[in-house]
This record gives sequence, C-alpha cells and structure tokens, in this order.
Amino acid sequence: MNQGIFITFEGADGTGKTTQLASIARLLRQKGHDVVCTREPGGTKAAEKIRSLVLDAELAMGHRTEALLYLAGRADHVSELIAPALESGKIVLCDRFSDSTIVYQGCGRGIPLPALRMLDDFATCSLKPGLTILLDGDPAELAVRRQGRGVSDKFEMEGLEFQAKIRGAFLKLAASEPERIAVIDALQAETDVTEEIMTKIEALLCK
Ligand code: TYD
Repeated sequence: MNQGIFITFEGADGTGKTTQLASIARLLRQKGHDVVCTREPGGTKAAEKIRSLVLDAELAMGHRTEALLYLAGRADHVSELIAPALESGKIVLCDRFSDSTIVYQGCGRGIPLPALRMLDDFATCSLKPGLTILLDGDPAELAVRRQGRGVSDKFEMEGLEFQAKIRGAFLKLAASEPERIAVIDALQAETDVTEEIMTKIEALLCK
C-alpha cells in the first residue's frame, strides 16, 4: 500500500534530531526527492493541539492519560498526514514516533509494554518506519551541549538519571531491531552525523 519511505528520528532529549532532520531533508530535496518533514507529538492541526496539552509542565496528568494523548495525536498524524504522503510516494521524515512511546511511557513511566504496543498498533494501523535513526550520546555530555538552550519540557526537567534510563531503553530497543534501527553517535561533529545518516538512507533507497 505504501510506496513512499517512512524514516523516523529518535533519541533522548538534546541529541540534535531536529537539526539533523532538517539537514537530511535539504540533502534529499537537492537530489530531487519529494520530502515531507513532520514531528511528534504533533504534525497535524489536531495533533499540535494535543502536543500543547501533553507537553504542558503546569498541567498535572496521570501517566496513562499522557500515554493516550500521545497515541491520540499519532492516530490523527498517521491518518491525515503520514499515510497519505506515503501513498503518494513521498519520503516522510518524522521527528519521534512509536519508539518514543515505548521508551518514555514504557520504560520511563512504567506502563506495561504489551499494552503500549497494542494501543500503538491501533493508533498507527500498524504502520512501521522503514528506517529509524537513533541519535545516541552520553546524557551528561549532551547536557553540556544543550546549555544556553534552556529547559523546555517535562522530560527535560527530569534530570540526568532519567535521561540515562531513556538512553538505555532506546539502545535496548535498537539491539532488538537492528535491521530497522541505526544507532548513530550524536556527539560527533554535526556534519559527520549528517553524513552517517545519509549513508543509511542511501542504502535504503537503493534496496
Ligand atoms: P520536543 O519538544 O519535541 O523535544 P525533543 O527535541 O526532545 O524531541 O518534546 C517531545 C517530548 O515528548 C520529549 O521529551 C519526548 C516526549 N514524547 C513522549 O514521551 N512520548 C512520545 O510518544 C513522543 C512522540 C514524545
């Protein structure tokens, strides 16, 4: 059904996903590809509204409520934006997707993984990325790099121990799906990171 290519960017906070996604989009467009850039939480009008709710640090909510909001946003994002773009043959680059839910709500918040996987399948109609770029780095070094940018969301306020846990969970997920998830050292020079990601994407495009 999907003729396009779905690539997601994952990693703990401050790994440079957003910057890398923009660089990769630019390079792919230069090569003539039709690229759609999007993000989670968010990506559509409804999902962006959900984003502002779920990332609001002032708004107390339970972990299950939080998980369901991420998933509700994802359902809209997939049906209204991602699936149609893939059906028309585009390359979709998405800043975070299902792996973030498994890692943050599952390993971070302690929600059982089977429940999350089932709900995520429901939200996405079982859509999976063809490639996931996991930007990985030591949380303490990433925090130094992030200084000056300010703390912006609930998870960033949880501190280094939480970020280390998140990193470990992403790496465990990557080890369980090495075919899909490519782990890239986020602490390299920015241009080296971009080059490594492009190599992975080019290998996928040649398949
Ligand atoms: P965002 O401001 O997009 O930051 P980042 O640059 O780190 O991606 O914040 C997204 C936050 O939402 C991030 O801390 C991870 C969290 N998140 C979840 O907990 N579950 C999810 O399913 C998704 C998509 C994001």
